[in-house]
Amino acid sequence: LERRTAPGALAGRHVLVTSGPTHEPIDPVRYIANRSSGKQGHAIAAAAAQAGARVTLVSGPVTLPDPPGVAVVRVETARAMLAAVEAALPADIAVFAAAVADWRPAAETGEKIKKGPGGPPGLALTENPDILATIAQRAAGRPPLVVGFAAETQAVVDNARAKIARKGCDLIVANDVSAATGVMGGDRNTVLLVGRDGSVETWPTLDKDEVARRLVARLAALAGA
Ligand code: CTP
Ligand code: CA
Repeated sequence: LERRTAPGALAGRHVLVTSGPTHEPIDPVRYIANRSSGKQGHAIAAAAAQAGARVTLVSGPVTLPDPPGVAVVRVETARAMLAAVEAALPADIAVFAAAVADWRPAAETGEKIKKGPGGPPGLALTENPDILATIAQRAAGRPPLVVGFAAETQAVVDNARAKIARKGCDLIVANDVSAATGVMGGDRNTVLLVGRDGSVETWPTLDKDEVARRLVARLAALAGA
């Protein structure tokens, strides 16, 4: 329909996308991570490339193939993802679709932790940098259009509105990731677009590829492309 992005709508633009989970090592054989297949983020990168943009995809560990025509930077941890994002700037549009681990083990041991008579080890955590907030609140070199995601299991709209205000991004794509929805790892997604003014637009359940195409068409329009 009219939501299809015209070919070349993003020609000459640089689009930066994060995707996938991050892995935060506990020791050389164990990590903590979020659930994320990377399907939605990778589809957005592919759709932006299809629309003619130069695309940099900063991806955590996923099993997906690289989208065609996209420069992929592979990272493992949240800190490495932030560094790769900063290295990829400037960008005209930045879309933060990654499921970043909020916390990492405070101390990583170089040797495998062994079971012992002392019982399970305690796991002290420390907070990871918030990549979206860091970039959205940059004084210099902030991409003109910064888009976040919000994964929620309850009060989706209220939580998304709070997130857009707290992080300083321009748009939030919110989705309900309760187990019953099958979003996690699935091929379909049901999203709401929440604007800075608190406006909410509900989209029907769509293939993640179609969510990506519609989102890219919207971003091209917002970027004046
Ligand atoms: N995000 C990020 N860096 C982090 C955490 C989150 O860039 N360390 C980004 C995600 O990529 C997403 C947005 O922030 O675009 C919201 O992520 P989400 O996990 O829903 O929000 P949080 O602020 O981490 O809050 P909470 O997990 O407590 O709901
Ligand atoms: Ca989080």
